[in-house]
Amino acid sequence: TVYYYKDRFLKGGETPVPVEDRAFNYGDGIYEVVRFHRDRSFGLQEHLERLRDSAEAIRMALPFPLEEIESIVRSAVSQVEDEVVDVYFQISRGEALRVHPFPQTDPVLSLYARPGRIYTEDFREAGVAVITLPDERWSNCYIKSLNLLPNVLAKQAAVEAGAYEAVLIRDGWVTEASASNVFGYHDGVFFTHPANRHILNGITRRFLLRAIQKLGFTVQEEPMSEEFFQNEVESAFITSTTMELMPISKINQRELHPLGPESPVWQILQAFRTL
Ligand code: PDD
Repeated sequence: TVYYYKDRFLKGGETPVPVEDRAFNYGDGIYEVVRFHRDRSFGLQEHLERLRDSAEAIRMALPFPLEEIESIVRSAVSQVEDEVVDVYFQISRGEALRVHPFPQTDPVLSLYARPGRIYTEDFREAGVAVITLPDERWSNCYIKSLNLLPNVLAKQAAVEAGAYEAVLIRDGWVTEASASNVFGYHDGVFFTHPANRHILNGITRRFLLRAIQKLGFTVQEEPMSEEFFQNEVESAFITSTTMELMPISKINQRELHPLGPESPVWQILQAFRTL
């Protein structure tokens, strides 16, 4: 793993944690995760733009212009030899005496780049089980904030239930999952929650929407009711930078049909791979 903190790459095991960094004390900051296949990124520009939008939404300046952040990201990636590299970068509002109002100090970039997890074809074809849980997060989920406690608690509950993801329900509607977006398929139509304040508008989600349309399927950015998702969808999948497209094999106790070769989700997966 290659680590970067504040203004430099770190050497051999050195990982400073400033006790009064606001990311550490308050979760006062934002982040992105981007995947590279060698030097080809998956949507780096869109990730950088979302970073800028998240910063703006929390009234935080960026420590460097976006182009400079881009070149630090690329430099980190080039230092990892693997075929698939994931870069995590976050911006904290800075290091300052711990009082709640914004500090006078500058925001701080930290980053790591490491080999990305590649799922086997067998894993993907088997799909993953999900459980549904109440969405206990705040009303600004479009911001990719460092505050992930509700997400962590939901994911842990899923793992403890023998599932892979927690699909979150707000007021009876599926929003997204703890670290991914959710799509359902029923009767020729794909559904996913609209990109509003209740979900993170995933970059993978956006690519998928285009792929689905390109294939000629109908896609509706409309929320699915919990009941519809639980009982009616014929297939479903989750999307994220690190999972890409992952079919769902089970929703709570209900098994979904496996990913057959001619199934719509299979076609979407193939189309996604040629993006
Ligand atoms: N998570 N929704 C939530 C709540 C997420 O945390 C993520 C990504 C997504 C998918 O977004 P994208 O397709 O842009 O990765 C949706 C990242 C990968 C993470 O926290 O590790």
